[in-house]
Amino acid sequence: MKPHIITFDKIGSSALGYISVAENFNNIPFTVQRVYWTYYTPQDVTRGGHAHLKLEQVIVAVSGTITFLIEDLQGSKTEFVLDNPDKGLYIPNKIWRDIKFSHNAVLLCLASEVYTEDDYIREYDNFIKLRDGQ
Ligand code: TYD
Repeated sequence: MKPHIITFDKIGSSALGYISVAENFNNIPFTVQRVYWTYYTPQDVTRGGHAHLKLEQVIVAVSGTITFLIEDLQGSKTEFVLDNPDKGLYIPNKIWRDIKFSHNAVLLCLASEVYTEDDYIREYDNFIKLRDGQ
């Protein structure tokens, strides 16, 4: 599966507010094993700068705007802008990502695996080597 935007249903109304729901294998294409969130990232900071060997993720900007610049192993680069809490970005494994945040952004990540540093590819050169099957 390629990176793509998931649009969550919005239950509610503009008068009362909304609820959106993420469920394993319903609108999330894996079993969620971990949830984390990031916040207070300054606007001039780029986070990410890594890929994962196994991890799949769905990421929601529950507040603010989060911009992903992602690159696949074929060298194809795509920008995804999360600017509404009814949107999620599905990221499969072996995708390089750089992430920028608006000052009020809160990133919620639903992850397919528990945390292990061994799953990270933090050197871009090592990511490129995966492309060459090294
Ligand atoms: P990292 O994934 O590199 O953050 P980002 O992509 O947002 O820049 O994680 C930053 C630090 O937090 C790193 O030292 C690993 C640690 N960390 C955990 O201990 N557990 C986790 O579930 C996550 C996501 C990170």
